[in-house]
Amino acid sequence: SAALRQHAAARGKFIGAALATGPLANESAYRDIAAAEFNQITAENAMKWDATEPSQGRFTFTGADAVVDFAAANGQQVHGHTLVWHSQTPGWVQSLGATAMRAAMREHIAQVVGRYADDPAVVSWDVVNEVFDDSGGMRTSFWYNTLGESYIADAFRAARAADPDARLCINDYNVEGINAKSTAMYNLVRTLRQQGVPVDCVGFQGHLAIQYGFPGQVQQNMQRFADLGVQVRVTELDIRMVMPRDASKDATQATYYRDTVNACLAVTACAGITIWGFTDKHSWVPDTFSGQGAALIYDENYRPKPAYTAVHDALAGG
Ligand code: G3I
Repeated sequence: SAALRQHAAARGKFIGAALATGPLANESAYRDIAAAEFNQITAENAMKWDATEPSQGRFTFTGADAVVDFAAANGQQVHGHTLVWHSQTPGWVQSLGATAMRAAMREHIAQVVGRYADDPAVVSWDVVNEVFDDSGGMRTSFWYNTLGESYIADAFRAARAADPDARLCINDYNVEGINAKSTAMYNLVRTLRQQGVPVDCVGFQGHLAIQYGFPGQVQQNMQRFADLGVQVRVTELDIRMVMPRDASKDATQATYYRDTVNACLAVTACAGITIWGFTDKHSWVPDTFSGQGAALIYDENYRPKPAYTAVHDALAGG
């Protein structure tokens, strides 16, 4: 039956995957599935600060361009990830004083967003990523500690100046359901928009785990953000399990994928869902969570799992 992207397009949504440049260059099975099944692409690492501006003023777009070129060749939209984050940002940025750091942030955004501003494939950006701590306070990152909360508004304004047509997102994890952190995000987005700061979109990463249960009120959470006037999206969906895989865990995982897709389908302002990879052969999960894995919709041999069928059937309306 039809590929994921055809069913998603028929519902007016995107279904995407994060791509890594290594397998994109080296594995035809990876390229073939990425091209056939998805209509949206995010670079897993290639657009981050350490990849695009490793030393001050020296911009490198080799990996970013490879991802964008692949997407353009396959009729896929690209979501830029990510401009301002505390992780994967070079030491030279972190050691700047306040005035120089603010200038470096603006210049980085101008250069990276500006490079793709006229590229029709690149339509949106994660402008700031993971600005909250898990209790709903501001994360005390080097950005916050050096610049204060105003770096967030500044980053959005710089991105808007660099590409007036791009959709500009704030992105975070553990904000899929209604909880203290997602409520903090809701309050920040509302305040920023009241102040005229160009926040167009909210990204819910969606790094879930079957052993922790499905988040509460996912659809309602999406809807309350949508009611602020922003687009919402699931940006980094994966659903890990304690290894080894078995049929029961696969089935639970499939229901979590299904329920995430259905929440997005139920909210008009939800643009779509990006899965953080697609094959268990290439996933950040086992490197970060010891003893966990199998978080994606294809196994390590590129065979579709029950989670694939769940996403497919939900998008198909089944
Ligand atoms: O590129 C180097 C390589 O040169 C070196 O030999 C190798 C040795 O460790 O490391 C390589 O860098 C790794 C990089 O991925 C590229 O593979 C880093 O160590 C590794 O830490 C990095 O992990 C990425 C992680 O972000 C970093 O925070 C994951 O691939 C990526 O999936 C993950 O993605 C994040 C999102 O951006 C934001 N939300 C959470 C999500 C999961 O952590």
